[in-house]
Amino acid sequence: MSIPVTIEPPARTKAHATFIVNGERLEVAFAPQKTLLEVIREDLALTGTKHGCELGECGMCTVLVDGEPVLSCLALGLAYTDRAITTVEGLAHGPELDSLQRAFAELGAAQCGYCTPAMLLTARALLEKNPHPTRDAIREALSGTLCRCTGYLKIFEAVERAAEVGSGNPEGGEHGHE
Ligand code: FES
Ligand code: FES
Repeated sequence: MSIPVTIEPPARTKAHATFIVNGERLEVAFAPQKTLLEVIREDLALTGTKHGCELGECGMCTVLVDGEPVLSCLALGLAYTDRAITTVEGLAHGPELDSLQRAFAELGAAQCGYCTPAMLLTARALLEKNPHPTRDAIREALSGTLCRCTGYLKIFEAVERAAEVGSGNPEGGEHGHE
């Protein structure tokens, strides 16, 4: 008679690291092979960052790292510890929405909203570098982020509206309001 044997899977080693997200230092333990997107969504519970293709093609997973757009689905989480990460949850300034968020809402630039976090963050990075971009510059900056709903026109207009009223730098920079 055979004796049933239970084989336990080997304990998986977790990485312990600190991420600086939306100005907060967050300690987290996670599987070391995870992408930055997976760490942000699954371990930090910041689900505003969306996953789409996970192949670097749709732009849905964009976050800002040190103010620059990064496709978090292609980034190894461990490579981004101790860097300043901004997700859409960090775009507002306390109770006050970012000027881009207000413009998107006012002009109907978000429909299903799936692309909106990436659009907002990418546009914010653009406005920090170029506070008064041309339509072509906006189109080019947002060209890596796909939107299936809006036809892009309202998004471009919303970025122009936000540029008119002045930006809101999450880091409280030159063009920002605290
Ligand atoms: S999820 Fe499509 S580029 Fe990252
Ligand atoms: S608003 Fe639906 S994908 Fe852009």
